[in-house]
Amino acid sequence: MPVIDIHNHFFPRAWPDLAARYGTPNWPWIKHTEAGNAEIMIGDRFFRKIYSACWDPEVRLSEMDRDGVEMQVLSATPVLFAYERPVEHALDCARLFNDAALELCAQGKGRLKSLCQVPLQDIDASCKELTRCMRAGHLGVQIGNHVGDKNLDDPGIVTFLQHCADEGAAVLVHPWDMLGAQRMPNYMMPWTVGMPAETQLGIVAMILSGAFDRLPPKLRLCFAHGGGSFAFLLGRLENAWQHHAVAHGVCELPPSQYLNRFYVDSAVFDERALQFLVGTMGAEHVMLGSDYPFPLGEHRVGTLIRSSQLTAQAKDRLLGGNAAEFLGVSSKSAAATTDSKTASAAGTPIVPQGEQLTYSSYLKVPELLKLQDAQSSPPHHDELLFIIVHQTYELWFKELLHDLDAVVANLRGAAANPESRDEVYEAARLLRRCTEITRVLVEQFTILETMLPTHFMAFRGKLEPASGFQSEQFRELEFLCGLKDAKMLRYHRPTPEAHALLERRLREPSLHEVFFDALRALGKLQVDDNATERERFDARARAVLALYRDERSHRDWIDVCERLTEFDELVVSWRLRHIQLVERVIGVRMGTGGSAGSSYLKLTLDKKFFPELWEARTLLTE
Ligand code: HEM
Repeated sequence: MPVIDIHNHFFPRAWPDLAARYGTPNWPWIKHTEAGNAEIMIGDRFFRKIYSACWDPEVRLSEMDRDGVEMQVLSATPVLFAYERPVEHALDCARLFNDAALELCAQGKGRLKSLCQVPLQDIDASCKELTRCMRAGHLGVQIGNHVGDKNLDDPGIVTFLQHCADEGAAVLVHPWDMLGAQRMPNYMMPWTVGMPAETQLGIVAMILSGAFDRLPPKLRLCFAHGGGSFAFLLGRLENAWQHHAVAHGVCELPPSQYLNRFYVDSAVFDERALQFLVGTMGAEHVMLGSDYPFPLGEHRVGTLIRSSQLTAQAKDRLLGGNAAEFLGVSSKSAAATTDSKTASAAGTPIVPQGEQLTYSSYLKVPELLKLQDAQSSPPHHDELLFIIVHQTYELWFKELLHDLDAVVANLRGAAANPESRDEVYEAARLLRRCTEITRVLVEQFTILETMLPTHFMAFRGKLEPASGFQSEQFRELEFLCGLKDAKMLRYHRPTPEAHALLERRLREPSLHEVFFDALRALGKLQVDDNATERERFDARARAVLALYRDERSHRDWIDVCERLTEFDELVVSWRLRHIQLVERVIGVRMGTGGSAGSSYLKLTLDKKFFPELWEARTLLTE
C-alpha cells in the first residue's frame, strides 16, 4: 500500500511583491537568509522560518524517500488565504499560488499532487476557481475553517462544498485566523490552543447545523490536525445533544452518527492520542497528515503511525489506503509512482509485470543505499564505514525494540492467564532472538576498529555535537527494559518527536515491571504495601529463587530468566566493547556529545536491567 501524506505545505522560491501589486500592506513575502533557508514575513513582522523543502522538489523527494512516503498532496499555507481582503486580490493571489503548486508538482516525478485555494469570501469566484483548478490537475481544495464570522455552516460555504462534491474535489479544512487571539499573544498559544478549538468548531458547526444532512455523502472532507479537540470532546457534545434542547441544533441524528461523513488527519503527535482518535473515528477515517516541512510538523513523516500499536491493517489504511479513497486516486496508480521511482533510481529498465514485487522494490534497496551522507568534503574514505556501522546498529535496535515489545505483550498475557504456558514459551523464544542479535552487536565493533584513529580524526570534527547520546532507540531500549532515567531526555529536546516517544516509554510498564507482575500473578511474589524499596528488591530476588528451586515445575519460567540474564550480560558486554573501541580510537578524550568520554562510559558498566536475577544467584548459594 503506497504511503500518502495529505497534509503538507509549500511556498514557491519567489513570488511577486503582493503589497505593491495590490497597493495594500501586510502581505506575506519571502526573505532568503542563507543557502536553503528563508523566513516568511508578513509586512514587517516575522512569521516563520522555512527551508528549501518548501520550494525545491529534489529536497522534497529525497526527504520523502528518507521517510518512506510515496506521495505528498501539498497545499499553500493559510496565511495566503486573504479571505478578509477584496475578492479580486484574494482571487489573483489564489491563482498565483495554485499555478505555482502545479509547477512544483510537475517536477515531482508523479509523486507530488496538490490542493488549490479559493477566495472563499466570494462563493461564485470560489466555485469558478475550483473548476479551473480541477481541470488543471489539482486533486481538490484546502479551505480555512471560517471566513470572518462565518463558520462552515454558512449557506454560501455549504453551496461551495456542494460544488466540491459535484466536481469530485477532495476538501481539506485547515484551521486558521485563531479565535481569542487577543488573549493569546504569547507562547504560540494560537497554535497549541486556538487551532484545536477552531477545528472542533468547524466540525461541530457542520454537524449541528444539519449541513451534513444537506450535503451529499459523496463529498470528501477532511479536517486537519486530527480534527482538533473534536474526538476528545465528542462525549460532551453528545451528552449536551441528548439532554439540552438548546444544544440540539437542527441535525437529524446525534452527533456521533456523523463520524462517517468526514476524515481527520493524524497530526496529533502522541501515540495515545492517535490510538484514541482511531478508536473514536474508526481506522477508515484517519489519514497520514504531517504538516511537513514546517517546524511543528512531524519530523520523520509517518513515524507516529508506524510505531503505534495499531494493527498492520489499520496502519495500512492510515498510511495510504484511506487517502487513496479521499483523493479519488486508486492505490494502484499511487503505487505505480513508487515502481517507476524505484526503476529509475536503480537505473535498469523494468518491464512492469502487474503488481509483482521485485527484490529491490520490496526491500527499498535504492532508497537504503542513498542514505549515507558523508559530512567530510571530499568524503573521507572511512566515513562511509562509520555511517554504515552506526546505521546497522540502529536497524538492529529497531528489531530489538520490535521483539522486546512482543515479549512484554507475552508476559502480560502470561500474567492475565497464569495457567497457560504458551505466552511464556513465546517470550523465551523471542528473548533468544534478542540475545543472538545483541551478540552480533557486540562483535560488530571489530569492523569499526579497522579504522585508524588518524582516519577518524580526519572527519571527527565535522560530527559535533552528534553523539551516541542522542540515539533515541538505544535510550528506548534502556527505558523499555527498565532502566528509566528521565535526565537522559534532555539530549532529545531538539527532536520533539523522539522526546515524546521516550516520555511515553518512561510512562509505559517496562519489561522488568511486567516480568515481576507475571511472577506475582503466578503466586511467586508477594510484597507488603508498606515494604521499603530494599525489601521489595529482596522479595523479587526471592521470587526468582523460588522458581530455580522448583525446576521441574518451572522449566518454562527458568528459561525466560536465563534468557533475560543472558541479555543483561550481553548488553554489559556491548557497553564494555564500546568503551574499548572508544579508547582505541580517541583515547581518553571528551566525547562529541560533551561527556568525559571513556571515564563517563565506564560508570554505565554497573547498569543492569534485571539485578534481581543476579541477586538470586547469590541467594542460591546461601
Ligand atoms: C569511533 C567510534 C565511536 C566513538 C569514538 C564513540 C564515542 C562515544 C562517546 C565518547 C560517548 C559518550 C557520549 C559523548 O560524550 O559523546 C558515546 C556514547 C554512545 N555511543 Fe559511541 N562511539 C563510537 C561508536 C559507536 C557506535 C558504533 C555505536 C553504535 C550504536 C555507538 C553508540 C553509542 C551510544 C548508544 C552511546 C550512549 C551510551 C550511554 O549513554 O550509555 N557508538 N560514544
